Amino acid sequence: MMNLPIRPRRNRKSANIRGLIRETSLSPEHLIYPVFVHEGTGNQPIPSLPGCTRWSVKGLVEEAKRLMDLGIRTLDLFPAIPDEKKTPDACEACNPDGLIPRTIYALKSEVPGITVMTDVALDPYNSDGHDGLVEFRSDGTMEILNDDSVEVLCRQALCHADAGADIVSPSDMMDGRVAAIRATLDSEALDDVSIMAYTAKYASALYGPFRGALESAPKEGDKKTYQMDPGNIREALREAQLDEAEGADILMVKPATLYLDVMAAMRKQVTLPIAAYHVSGEYLMIKSAAASGWLDERETVLETLISIRRAGADMILTYYAPQAAEWLQQR
Ligand code: PBG
Repeated sequence: MMNLPIRPRRNRKSANIRGLIRETSLSPEHLIYPVFVHEGTGNQPIPSLPGCTRWSVKGLVEEAKRLMDLGIRTLDLFPAIPDEKKTPDACEACNPDGLIPRTIYALKSEVPGITVMTDVALDPYNSDGHDGLVEFRSDGTMEILNDDSVEVLCRQALCHADAGADIVSPSDMMDGRVAAIRATLDSEALDDVSIMAYTAKYASALYGPFRGALESAPKEGDKKTYQMDPGNIREALREAQLDEAEGADILMVKPATLYLDVMAAMRKQVTLPIAAYHVSGEYLMIKSAAASGWLDERETVLETLISIRRAGADMILTYYAPQAAEWLQQR
C-alpha cells in the first residue's frame, strides 16, 4: 500500500458521487436548434447537412410541436431564398410578407410557449452572397459597405420583431449594428425584443455545409473584411465590450469547439450571458466520423456540448439539439 491520504479517485467511485461533484450541467433547456425553411411545400433533406431538413412552414410548425415535447423550446430560423428573389439590395430581407415573417407568425400562433430567434444578415437574400451590401469599384475591387448595410439590417430586424420574433440575432459583423438595431426597435416600442449579437464570429472554413444548405456562399471574394481572423482573441474581447455597451442581451462566440479559449476569456470579462454556435462543419465532423463507425456519436456529441458549457457558454446553438435532448432524456 502506498501512503496516500489524498486520493482523488474517491470522488469518482460511483455514478452517484460523480453526479454530486459534477461541476457543469447539460440539459435541453441550454440548447437552441437552428432550422432551415423554404418557400415550397414539403420537407427536403439537405444533402450538405445529413440529418437536417429544409422545412416548409407547415412542416416546421409540426416539427416544433414535437421539439417542445423534447424540451427544445428555442428555434433559430434560416431562410432558403429562391435565386429569383435575390437582389443586390437584398430587399426581400425586409419584406413583411416574406418567408421569415410568415414562419415566425405561424410558429408563434400555433406552437404555445415557443421562443423564436431569427438571423439578421443579408447573405440569404443578397445576390452577392455577402452579409452586407456590396459596392463594386471600377478598378475591379469590391467593398462590403458598413453603414449602408446597417441601415438595411435595422429594417430587417424590425420586420422580424414586428412579426413576433422574441430574439433577433445579427450575424453580419458590421460595426455599430447592435446599437442601431436597439434604437430602431425601441423607437417602435419593441423594447421587449432581445438582441443576441454574434460578437466574435470568425472567418471560418466550418461554415461550408451551411452555405450549401442555403446556397448562400459569396459569389466573389471572402468574408475576411468583416468576420474575424482565427488568430485573434483580444479582438474578440474588444467586440464583446462594444456589444455590451451597445445594448446586446446575449453575446455569441462562433464556431464553438475551436474557440473555447475565446469563450472562457469572454466569460471572465463580461457579465452578459454567452452563447456558442456549434456550426455546420463541427456537426459534420462528428456526423461523418460516426457514419464511418469511427466515433461513438452519442458520447462524442454529449462530451462536445458539456465542454462548450464548461468553457463558459450558457446556451449552445447546435444541429444536434433534438438528438442530444433525446439522449439526455435516456440518461
Ligand atoms: C451568415 C451565417 C452563417 C452561419 C450562420 N449565419 C454563414 C456565414 O457567415 O457564411 C453559419 C452557420 C453554420 O455553419 O452552421 N449570416
